[in-house]
Amino acid sequence: MTDEDNTLTTRNGQPIADNQNTRTIGERGPATLENYQFMEKLAHFDRERVPERVVHARGATAFGFFETYGTVGGEEPISTHSRAKLFEPAGKRTEVAVRFSTVAGGRDSSEAVRDPRGFAVKFYTEDGNWDLVGNNLGVFFIRDAIKFPDFIHSQKPDPVTFERQVPNRVFDFASQSPESLHMFNLVLSPRGVPASYRTMQGFGVNTYKWVNAAGETKLVKYHWLPKQAVKSWTEEDAGKQQGLELGVHTKDLYGAIAAGQYPEWELAVQLMDDHEHPELEFDPLDDTKVWPEHVFPVRRIGRMVLDRAPEDFFAESEQIAFGTGVLVDGLDFSDDKMLVGRTFSYSDTQRHRIGPNYLQLPVNTPKNARVTTNQRDGAMTYAVDGGSGNPSVNYEPSITGGPQEAPKPTHTEQGPVVEGRLTRQRIARTNDYAQAGERYLLSEPWEQDELVANWIANLSQCDRPIQERMLWHLYMAETELGDRVGQGLELTADDVRHLEPLATQTLTPEEEQRRANLG
Ligand code: HEM
Repeated sequence: MTDEDNTLTTRNGQPIADNQNTRTIGERGPATLENYQFMEKLAHFDRERVPERVVHARGATAFGFFETYGTVGGEEPISTHSRAKLFEPAGKRTEVAVRFSTVAGGRDSSEAVRDPRGFAVKFYTEDGNWDLVGNNLGVFFIRDAIKFPDFIHSQKPDPVTFERQVPNRVFDFASQSPESLHMFNLVLSPRGVPASYRTMQGFGVNTYKWVNAAGETKLVKYHWLPKQAVKSWTEEDAGKQQGLELGVHTKDLYGAIAAGQYPEWELAVQLMDDHEHPELEFDPLDDTKVWPEHVFPVRRIGRMVLDRAPEDFFAESEQIAFGTGVLVDGLDFSDDKMLVGRTFSYSDTQRHRIGPNYLQLPVNTPKNARVTTNQRDGAMTYAVDGGSGNPSVNYEPSITGGPQEAPKPTHTEQGPVVEGRLTRQRIARTNDYAQAGERYLLSEPWEQDELVANWIANLSQCDRPIQERMLWHLYMAETELGDRVGQGLELTADDVRHLEPLATQTLTPEEEQRRANLG
């Protein structure tokens, strides 16, 4: 057979002469059991789906490159802070794959929904892959990974009726989790429905570390800034779109790439010295907080262009697998409790969703680094990750060949010394309301109107105790926001003033003051 030959075959390479008729005894049947071609075709079809992602099931992937500027904001070389090889010299390009997604809906759900958007980037670097798995809003609903399954259950359909996005479930959980207020003030604002994937920002959200050649560390937060500008839809715009096309964002992304309008983002970082920063009102390891940009400026380090759509959606988008544990030398984790929990969850779900050898698939395997492991076998083993040594030696250490450890980095110890007792406690500086209130005050009037309308529309579908507790939280964040949402719910500060703080809360002195003057 030549490459040009387009003859249909089985997966075993036998040409298929009849793809229309089942083999039968006589033209009216019965069918025969030894009909290999028929069995293979149906049996494969029966297995065409892998489980969809438990979150972020709906999404679209595109490919392109990241190009480093070599410096942080045009000033010091990036290597001052990180020895990761992809950042230098200026102009160096690294291939990337990016998957944008919604969070709560299923694989075929609408993309014009009010929901955070996933923004996951895989850099195929020369030191192996680096995944930056973020979102478009910059913060998150919770700060401890142990709450994630409960939070997601509250967002998913009711397990009895399978009704979707029941506000009572969503805000029942939120009313007892005040750390989520900042994120809800974003999700219910126009930014909760981006006009397209191309016109949204991206953020790493969790706090990571950078490590330089001397082993010195900095805390880092990542930002993606779209060259296409940021555009969002109002609730009304989004409603119209949902009726027209479920996959509106995927279509927009692939349409733009096909037309040669390649979307582009700049990558920027905020850096902070690696310690607890007692001078701040929040903990730098708390992903419900942003870092004030006037103190920690957003400094550009490179750009990313997406210029290719997948050749096959299932192979390259459904099977792509990102994880927060996928880092390269010069980048590291912080002790952010969400980040640590996420790092277990991603590869765990992918071993279940795709299979134990998911990292051997072309879209997941490093494109620019060698893979030599002693991991063998398991379902769907595609290749042996051998090195150049003796292939029989699939263990280490050995004096008879087989893979050897890489040279140790010059600085194996890094970052500050950590000391503490084994405990189960929330972080001390929760400060759940200040940034939520500032978010409202810093919005434009039309954005504030949208936010208020969306709070009212959602809370008016909730039970009275949930409405009252949510209104209490809103007052604790910002009086005007409380007044306006309260008006829509026919509630006032007087109706909620009697509420005690939650048993899980410790109010700051400022929050105590707000509570005393509620409304
Ligand atoms: C996807 C877990 C928090 C962004 C997923 C998946 C799981 C998961 C299990 C499905 C992965 C797959 O099937 O391949 C968690 C847990 C979290 C958490 C346990 C908290 C403890 C977050 C946060 C962000 C985020 C804070 C944003 C900063 C994403 C994105 C995807 C995703 C973008 C989709 C990746 C893709 O496109 O394939 N998460 N997640 N997650 N998560 Fe999280």
